Amino acid sequence: MSASTQSASSSKQSNGTRANSATPLSHQRGKEIQSYGKVVRMPIGLDEKTCLQSVKDLNQILADTITLRDLYKKHHWQVSGHTFYQLHLLFDKHAGEQDEQVDMIAERIQLLGGITVAMAHDVAELTKIERPPKGRESVPVQISRLLEAHEHLCKLCRSFASDASDRGDEGTNDLLISDVLRMNELQVWFVSEHLVDTPLVKADE
Ligand SMILES: [Fe+2]
Repeated sequence: MSASTQSASSSKQSNGTRANSATPLSHQRGKEIQSYGKVVRMPIGLDEKTCLQSVKDLNQILADTITLRDLYKKHHWQVSGHTFYQLHLLFDKHAGEQDEQVDMIAERIQLLGGITVAMAHDVAELTKIERPPKGRESVPVQISRLLEAHEHLCKLCRSFASDASDRGDEGTNDLLISDVLRMNELQVWFVSEHLVDTPLVKADE
């Protein structure tokens, strides 16, 4: 007996006369209605080949952005030392901003007719950002990891944006340049200044 049939039959009242139509039919499974890697046609004036390539590129950006967001959260929780408070707050602010980008990138993938990468194990397979250890690392290492991830994303955005423009997909170009790239560049500035070795109390003579 299939799960849906079992659930439907369990919704019958104990006297067996009629099904209770208000009972939720839970535990259902079915075939996918769209496979990952395929696009459906959307009436936005772009051909299938263009949409397929944009979706592929945006899924890479999405997987790396989700990973960078999670790296910020990890560091937000695990940061230590005399800059704890400011970095604890800064890392959380950047995680929130990356999370907004995640949604914008994902929704553009769907509007192009594609399917977003979404779950953690699928993201882990796709991302090119180096996996950090489960344990806690020092602030300079945390920041170095963040900057490397940002630089990877900046390079990818410029390359994919240029390709999207060549294909005539200016919406993807605009998202990658105006939103994703610009925000990553700004976050790099805020984070990288913490790696400048300046005296805290006494100036060098
Ligand atoms: Fe928090």
